[in-house]
Amino acid sequence: MGLKIGIFDSGIGGLTVAKAIKNKLPQAELVYFGDTAHLPYGDKSPASIRHYSTKITQFLLSENCTALVIACNTASAHAFKTVKDVAGPDIPVFNVIDPVVEFIATRYQNQKVGIIATRGTIKTRVYPRRIKIANDSITVASKATPLLAPMIEEGFFNNNISKTVIESYLKARELNGISALVLGCTHYPLIQSEVEAFFKGSVDIIDSANVVAESVARGYSLKGKEVTDKFYVSDFTKGFEKSTQTFFGKKIELKEERIFD
Ligand code: DGL
Repeated sequence: MGLKIGIFDSGIGGLTVAKAIKNKLPQAELVYFGDTAHLPYGDKSPASIRHYSTKITQFLLSENCTALVIACNTASAHAFKTVKDVAGPDIPVFNVIDPVVEFIATRYQNQKVGIIATRGTIKTRVYPRRIKIANDSITVASKATPLLAPMIEEGFFNNNISKTVIESYLKARELNGISALVLGCTHYPLIQSEVEAFFKGSVDIIDSANVVAESVARGYSLKGKEVTDKFYVSDFTKGFEKSTQTFFGKKIELKEERIFD
């Protein structure tokens, strides 16, 4: 049996990670689950996130996935252990935080790094804690940006509304003097060019999708033809189907799977 990677997020954000994995491992079959019924995850309680993650993991295992990627920072922060426990010892589970922490720790010695993410991710202090353990010469500034994921999910990017919202978050005093900014939510690569425009090249923007895809792909060497992927949501929307098609540059079939009923 080939490699079948189960990937999940609250919505379209994890597609940034799925696409990056597909570019590196075209022969792996992806099974994507967007939990649109519970979006946004950023303001939900840790217990709710663990409950959703458990159900989604069980579903992805029932689809015979042989590896899992939690393509959501909020779920990675609250439910990594839960997902690993449900998956069992034979299924490798990847989160989107550890590869980014490793990347930052090896490149930004004695510098200040900013993190923007959902309120849920920022509250756990998972990035500052893990970066400190990996390299304590790095100063970490965190900023919760709760409007960004719902705004992006609604298709508001590259326009005047997104520009105003992004600017009002990024001009926060705590982000002064940073060398790099981590996009600590998998929705944010969709506004990467707007973030870059704000900093005018003076700050490195760290897009977790590529860093995570590299860490997932590291352990596999696959041969053969590209295979077709599967896409599921807990609540069907036309917008999600359209975004997925735009992302993957081809027609895809999006199925609703009511795993929470
Ligand atoms: N894309 C997710 C993350 O990385 C969740 C955003 C949300 O649903 O609030 O945190």
